Amino acid sequence: MTSTLITNIGQLVTNDPTHDGTKLGLIKDAALLIEDGVIAWAGANSEAPTKHIKTSIDAEGMCVLPGYVDSHTHMIFTGDRSNEFRARMLGESYTAGGIASTVEKTRKASDELLLAHAKFLVSEAHSGGTTTLEIKSGYGLSVHDERRSLQIASQITDETTFLGAHVVPVEYKDSPKDYVDLVCGEMLDAVVPFAKWIDVFCDKGAFAVDDARQILKAGIAKGLLPRIHANQLQEGQGVLLGVELDAASVDHVSHLSEIDIEALSTSKTVATLLPGAEFSTRSLYPDVRPLLEASIAVALASDCNPGSSYTTSMAFIIAMAVREMHFSPEQAVWSATMGGAKALRRNDIGHLVEGASADFQILNAPSYIHLAYRPGVNLVEQVWRNGLQLI
Ligand code: NIG
Ligand code: FE
Repeated sequence: MTSTLITNIGQLVTNDPTHDGTKLGLIKDAALLIEDGVIAWAGANSEAPTKHIKTSIDAEGMCVLPGYVDSHTHMIFTGDRSNEFRARMLGESYTAGGIASTVEKTRKASDELLLAHAKFLVSEAHSGGTTTLEIKSGYGLSVHDERRSLQIASQITDETTFLGAHVVPVEYKDSPKDYVDLVCGEMLDAVVPFAKWIDVFCDKGAFAVDDARQILKAGIAKGLLPRIHANQLQEGQGVLLGVELDAASVDHVSHLSEIDIEALSTSKTVATLLPGAEFSTRSLYPDVRPLLEASIAVALASDCNPGSSYTTSMAFIIAMAVREMHFSPEQAVWSATMGGAKALRRNDIGHLVEGASADFQILNAPSYIHLAYRPGVNLVEQVWRNGLQLI
């Protein structure tokens, strides 16, 4: 058995309310015991077990919190769109149309290049404290390119998502219904061995709700689990569709009606907010308060993609959520860890409770509040996943 004891933790965020009655489950002056890759014990430093400890690490009063669970990324692509970003910063508005330029480059890239680029982004994410990543396809948009995108993603994570319905590719622009049939048929069959989830971009310039329903139901029939990009660019029926199909998460949701909020509040579906997209498209940030008032579980994720949110930094996402979207620092940290786990329907990650995966980070700061208080500064000192030190 391998055992590691982290001692002298100034502030431990467990996300286990039994410790202090709050969502973050804080323990002051704490210690954390890891055995065989899982959390074996969390409690006061003064009560830390001393027997059979193989390795001991002194956290020197720093804050320890769960690794981030980034439940929404698009990391299989090549090429950047910095000129498109520049044009937006000078006044142009975002459209889903830019996706086509990444599709063109991604189709031409070798498997080796796509894998190497995705691994580069994953290692950047790890350095920033992320320990679990969901990765979508969606820049292939042909049977061959969606299949290889997911084959590559599945070499990096178990949380792989088929997003053949990202936009209609140029070669189907005059026959979009044929593309929907392709996604539901041959393309779906080709990707099923490599995908866990199915997603649709249901929005202006992408897919209408009836197409989204047809595609998600086809995926469900093949054993994939639904999630959906909804209401990013305008209000629509995507959130209601997500609830109807018991989607694990509805993502973006920057434009919500009262009916959407009511539907979410009576469901198990998580609302995942992606402020990187509002930042990079110079759009209005949604306000999280109506969601929290309705007791809806809210996740935060990076949406890492070359068009609308080219960041892997969950600390940056937390800072934006606090500054611009009325998250409390506590809620933002919970949403980036436990919220992400719920958006992936995972109980083994996102919290530091007995039996959970030992996925955590040590910050070079005394408190999680510094994540928003010190924006743009990488405070990550160490990152551990499955009880092994990554950073
Ligand atoms: O989640 N919303 C749809 N897809 C991506 C954007 C993709 C792109 O612009 O390349 C997103 O923001
Ligand atoms: Fe996205």
